[in-house]
Amino acid sequence: MSQSSQVDPAKLAAARAAVALVEDGMKLGLGTGSTASIMVRELAGRVAREGLKLRFAATSQATADLAESLGLRVETLDEIGWLDMTIDGADEVDPHLHLIKGGGGAHLREKVVAAASERMVVIADPAKVVETLGAFPLPVEVLSFGFETTRRLIRKLLDTLELGERDVLQRLKGSDPWVTDEGNLILDLHLEVIPDPAALARGLSCIPGVVEHGLFLGMCDLAIIGREDGSVVELARDADIDADMLAHEGE
Ligand code: 5RP
Repeated sequence: MSQSSQVDPAKLAAARAAVALVEDGMKLGLGTGSTASIMVRELAGRVAREGLKLRFAATSQATADLAESLGLRVETLDEIGWLDMTIDGADEVDPHLHLIKGGGGAHLREKVVAAASERMVVIADPAKVVETLGAFPLPVEVLSFGFETTRRLIRKLLDTLELGERDVLQRLKGSDPWVTDEGNLILDLHLEVIPDPAALARGLSCIPGVVEHGLFLGMCDLAIIGREDGSVVELARDADIDADMLAHEGE
């Protein structure tokens, strides 16, 4: 099941390297997004060729639908329980392998699945590697009940963290609110930089209407960064990352 030449070569390289880590008998979490979709297709190819016996939980309905369409039977997380590995994309990866996720609006399920995994492997292209998180708007999934109140509390939190005057925008799909797989809404926090991700994560988690934010701190074990030429760079947590080199690689 080889993928067409239109597939981004950097994403494909990262996806292939992650799929190469899969061993027979594993229980896997399947991420969401364009890079994760490439990974799911590569995985389906390996399963078909090698007859691997694997079990799958998906991080979104979109990924579950894709996997099923490729012949991979998806089970609920509760049916499987603990997972050996989750392979997922990211919107930003910093030198500590802290992440921003949720560009696809799936970070709630992605975090639940990653937290139930022995290992979280992130696959990405070089543009995702940053020195400091925050250029990508931080997704925050919130309840529709008291939506504006929650937005106000988030703004107040940002003020206390000296991140005031930033846009906190409701995510839309066309002109309608974006609704997540769990039936919630999303606010995108346009912060530019997040000087203290842990403080922001703590603060957001204390706001009752916040269901989950897209900061994944200390969850990623390995980031595989694909390059245009088909090679990959593997980043382990707290290794030195030459973000400049990686960021310009794919341009
Ligand atoms: C979805 C995510 C994705 O993993 C993230 O947005 C990266 O997506 P892509 O591989 O398409 O760039 O967090 O909620």
